Amino acid sequence: MVAKKLALGLLPTWALGQSNVKWITVEDGPAPSFSLASSGISYQFHVDPYTLDLIHDHWGGYAAETVPQDTGNRNGWGGPYTYRLREFPDSGRGDFRTPAIHIQHATGDTVSAFAYTGYEVKAGKPGLPGLPATYGNEDDVSTLIVHLYDEYSAISADLYYSIFPKHNSIARSFRLTNKGNNTATVQRASSWSIDMPNEELDLIDLRGDWAGEAHINRRSVGFGEQGFRSTAGYSSHFHNPFFALAPPSTTELQGPATGYALLYTGSFAANVERWSTGWVRVLLGLNPLHLSWPLEPGDTFISPEVVSAYSYRGFSGMSQSLHSLFKNQLSRANQTLETRPALLNSWEGLKFDYNSTSMVELAKGAADLGCRLFVNDDGWFGTDYPRDNDSLGLGDWVPQEKKFPEGLGPYVDDVNAITVANSSDKMIFGLWFEPEMVNPNSDLYAEHPDWVLHAGSHNRTLLRSQLVLNLGLPEVQEYIITTVGGILDSANIKYVKWDNNRGQHELPSPAANHAYMLGLYRVIDNLTSAHPDVLWEGCASGGGRFDAGLLHYWPQTWTSDNTDGLSRLQIQFGTSYAYPPSSMGCHVSAVPNDQIGRITPLAFRSAVASMCGSYGLELDPKDLTQEERDMIPGMISLQQEINPLVINGDFYRLALPEQSNWPAAMFALPDASAGVLFAFRIRSETKPLPPPVKLRGLDADAKYKLTGGSFNATFSGSTLMNTGLSLKWPNGDYQSYIIKLERVEGG
Ligand code: GLA
Repeated sequence: MVAKKLALGLLPTWALGQSNVKWITVEDGPAPSFSLASSGISYQFHVDPYTLDLIHDHWGGYAAETVPQDTGNRNGWGGPYTYRLREFPDSGRGDFRTPAIHIQHATGDTVSAFAYTGYEVKAGKPGLPGLPATYGNEDDVSTLIVHLYDEYSAISADLYYSIFPKHNSIARSFRLTNKGNNTATVQRASSWSIDMPNEELDLIDLRGDWAGEAHINRRSVGFGEQGFRSTAGYSSHFHNPFFALAPPSTTELQGPATGYALLYTGSFAANVERWSTGWVRVLLGLNPLHLSWPLEPGDTFISPEVVSAYSYRGFSGMSQSLHSLFKNQLSRANQTLETRPALLNSWEGLKFDYNSTSMVELAKGAADLGCRLFVNDDGWFGTDYPRDNDSLGLGDWVPQEKKFPEGLGPYVDDVNAITVANSSDKMIFGLWFEPEMVNPNSDLYAEHPDWVLHAGSHNRTLLRSQLVLNLGLPEVQEYIITTVGGILDSANIKYVKWDNNRGQHELPSPAANHAYMLGLYRVIDNLTSAHPDVLWEGCASGGGRFDAGLLHYWPQTWTSDNTDGLSRLQIQFGTSYAYPPSSMGCHVSAVPNDQIGRITPLAFRSAVASMCGSYGLELDPKDLTQEERDMIPGMISLQQEINPLVINGDFYRLALPEQSNWPAAMFALPDASAGVLFAFRIRSETKPLPPPVKLRGLDADAKYKLTGGSFNATFSGSTLMNTGLSLKWPNGDYQSYIIKLERVEGG
């Protein structure tokens, strides 16, 4: 057989050695078996000795052995690639399911024939040039690289698998290198691809829209393809690049679950396909509608990374693994594990209507309430087209003379001179940018109309009166690096809100989206490396780019433009499926709420916002009642006190707002020495009575002192976790408790 000859002919001798790298075992031979395993997880696959295709064996909880799957009666239309659980499914050889990789060759055909040629193992993890990626040293991670080659097209594929045992996670990506003389086109690239046996499964993803992000969407995996994608050019509000798979019996706190997240900010596709056998193919990667990537002779294409985390402790356990992976092995920002200052953002309070005097007044009001960071949102720039509404000035990153007659530096100095109430701290200053966009009403557009994404003579569709700059162009990248960097150097700016307020419509080619992303990552990498002390917050009309790609560079993201307390509960619980609460920006705004008009109590809004890493106010203190003015300093000092627990604690969703009138969640430090409980009652009802709140993550034998709400008591961890707290709720809708837990005995 040809394949057999290939196996022996192409195997390099170094491939015959035994792996001595931690957590990776290779059963050697011409057709080896690979296992990445720690006490919590196993990922197993092997080389089929006849086809040299990679066969998937298992991904999930630890398994000491590999069990070959029964491939059943093979009569029918299939060939040797059909009734197989495949690891890297290519196309054109009789596997009729959706492939992970689809390449069009210069001849026009799209058949690929990747065959195993060898492997390498490495302690630690190689970087992913140009793309965001998880990282770690040899105590954190080990990497297996499997080499495949398609002799017909002379394209090699190197599959990278990394195991992070402390976070029960596997990271995957692949590289294609064109070793031939003809240009090929990569039409489809799914970094994660496995085939699972016939099991009952639910698919859980986060769907939404502007001001309504991250709704938990759970359905069973039936026959055929089911999935979701973003073709918006960005990860988008519509579908987050994340999903979970779990048996129908899995709950928040019990049962196996795997979570999958793509570390990417552009268009993407997730596909889960149950085939005739009942087997389920799982794909996550780039959106084929926005790919068609030309692979020139000698070029290498690197696919964005996917991480997957497994837990047997339900969706909360799965989320905890992803959170700890993202906090410790993904984010490169200095502030990721630090307490964040309470802030006041000018947007909902003043919108575009301000000058340096009214801004300094606003900053003083913020300082009097206890905020330590003042953020000047949209409206500060534009000379010929002053940014006094959203149709003007985007792209012209020059401070407006009318609003800042003395320039930005002296204005920022004035803000920095303000002392925060009851402290000796001075106010920190932050600024809003939307660097990837341009209004046609701008000097930039007048000078460079060709810098925007556009498709020949097609209409350039305006959205919020703006167009998208083509960050695939090196001159656009340089312009952004220079102008944003220049402003950061011109004044004492210690926080940046990087906004992005529309999707991509007319693209010059499908590949322009990925080229844009590579450009965007280059720009952000450059600016964040040059300004590591700046606290960077991502935003895209709220959570339109809340993805693990940007979390590599920025420690936090504005979770949603919807600041209503109740909407936010649902959005934040949903977002926490994939992303740590420490990475969420959450603000208390005025009522009736600007986006949906609901009125909720101030304490409720503040409790909801306190569940996030970055807490702030988004209102004009002048509009507050005396009662509210009196309450806010206490709310902020409580929020600041518990912020280290929110940043460093393990997050448990105890009851979801979609499922209970009494949603609750808690953070517990990994050593169980302290925690904080957030409990809510949405509607005031006479009956039924609330269920006990059963805590998690505590030391059963230790005693904990509880403070907050009506509690000033001490209970053992066992009581708190098994009997639970019985909370008494006052009358009225939208009530909340924040209860601190401190270990006082035992442990
Ligand atoms: C977007 C953001 C808001 C605010 C405005 C300013 O909508 O999501 O938070 O910054 O832009 O124009």
